[in-house]
Amino acid sequence: MDKIPFGDLSRQYKKYRNEFDGITKAVFEKGNFILGENVSGFEKEFAAYCGCRYGTGVGSGTEALHLALLACGIKAGDEVITVANTAVPTAAAIRLAGAVPVFADIEESTFNIDPALIESCITDKTKAVMPVHLYGNPCDMDRIMPIAEKYGLKVIEDCAQSHGAELKEKRAGSFGNAGCFSFYPSKNLGAFGDGGMVVTNDAEIAEKLKLLRNYGQQNRYFSIIEGINTRLDELQAAYLRFKLKHLEGWNERRIEIAGKYGNALKKTCARLPAVDKGCRHVYHLYVIRVKNRDRFMDYLEEKGIKTLIHYPYPIHLQEAYKKAGIGHGAGSLPVTEKVSKEIVSLPIYPELYDEEVSYISEVILEALKTV
Ligand SMILES: Cc1ncc(COP(=O)(O)O)c(C=O)c1O
Repeated sequence: MDKIPFGDLSRQYKKYRNEFDGITKAVFEKGNFILGENVSGFEKEFAAYCGCRYGTGVGSGTEALHLALLACGIKAGDEVITVANTAVPTAAAIRLAGAVPVFADIEESTFNIDPALIESCITDKTKAVMPVHLYGNPCDMDRIMPIAEKYGLKVIEDCAQSHGAELKEKRAGSFGNAGCFSFYPSKNLGAFGDGGMVVTNDAEIAEKLKLLRNYGQQNRYFSIIEGINTRLDELQAAYLRFKLKHLEGWNERRIEIAGKYGNALKKTCARLPAVDKGCRHVYHLYVIRVKNRDRFMDYLEEKGIKTLIHYPYPIHLQEAYKKAGIGHGAGSLPVTEKVSKEIVSLPIYPELYDEEVSYISEVILEALKTV
């Protein structure tokens, strides 16, 4: 068996080389690279896919979160409740908006924000909640939304890992005031570079986002609010329109691979991802928990299988955030801190071959007996 990388985007390119090359040529020939018909077309198509009315393409998932916070009226000094076991950009976006991330601990089973702990994080300064549908597994929005409504908080969903995830057939991104997506290349829907989008059902938020991403300009060279430049690239939007047609097939393949891992590993001591009733987990990542993680990962590496950790350092324990006085230090988020020492992500992507999935499963069974 050849080495199995954690991800391999070239497999997808090779399969659709002609289509991608054709798309590149068409955009180049047209010569419109900024906010052209592919951006507006993709905004409509992706918003509809999410069950939302409006989409605004931006430069990255981080910028989607940042601008969504601004468009929801979050200001300097406001507090935003989120989690610490996420990618650092979740917190970075809150800081970019001038606000302060307040970390709630997570449910041990789903790795997502524990709704039972949100109320205890609320202060006079709390203005929003940012649930992260981590690894592709939707948060318990049925419990989060009523808390937000009770306290008048905005809800900005971090959907960077959850394109197509569902709770009771409603898609991630359509529950709160805004849903923020990343099209980083390895995401379930990924560009050939950076990209992001905010989806919403609120016309006012959508209008504000369109201004914020383009220097605050309604008409050329006349800014009506202060904005920046963070636009989804026309070329990336053209690729993403094509890829969106394949997203459901790719998500189904991820779910199929997760099922194969689940069957192979269900009788072992590894803790497998939990999916709550009514949830559609789209497995951006397949994360298990093992004891002796370093030895486990080394064993797989020796057998040619690359694994990673998402994420090894909870945000409240990272130097930059400790220095900024964010969070309450070691011991303040016991579940987050405990699972960060045991989690490991297995390769999962639509182009992974069945033989590779079987081989990975076999090696894991050996590793769990050996390490
Ligand atoms: C949970 C989460 N939030 C936000 C982001 C930021 O997205 P981007 O890398 O497109 O800025 C990512 C992606 O890395 C992510 O995984």
